[in-house]
Amino acid sequence: MKVIIASDHGGVNLRREIADVLDELHIEFEDIGCNCETSVDFPDYAIPAAERVASGEFDRGILICGTGIGMSISANKVNGIRAALVHDLFTAKATREHNNSNVLCMGERVIGPGLAKEIARTWLETDYEAGRHENRVGKITKYEGRKA
Ligand code: RB5
Repeated sequence: MKVIIASDHGGVNLRREIADVLDELHIEFEDIGCNCETSVDFPDYAIPAAERVASGEFDRGILICGTGIGMSISANKVNGIRAALVHDLFTAKATREHNNSNVLCMGERVIGPGLAKEIARTWLETDYEAGRHENRVGKITKYEGRKA
């Protein structure tokens, strides 16, 4: 699995913690920043990262901002992206099993690093169940007019 990670200024610290999780799990990843001291605009990171997942260059993406909301709204504008905003372990597992989410978004100002790292581990290690969910996810792909 190859993962791309990104954040705005509101998610820099948590993004670095997530990089540690990826190292611990021996998952190959690219970190595209930001490395900013000043504020940046989250779409400038979310959209390029999401495009590189949608293109197939990366299997998954993890995007962090202050709330996770801006990242998830931006990433979900890219065809083929199913970005899930997650702040608990139940939905981390469910969104992989049911939605086949390919981008995880979290907010550094919403949860602590311990829970966020556990969410990332759960999300990375949970498989899509397919089955009855195929038709539902397929309807999203059909609406987009492209194959994910
Ligand atoms: C930046 O201040 C903040 O708005 C951003 O990180 C994010 O929370 C937006 O959804």
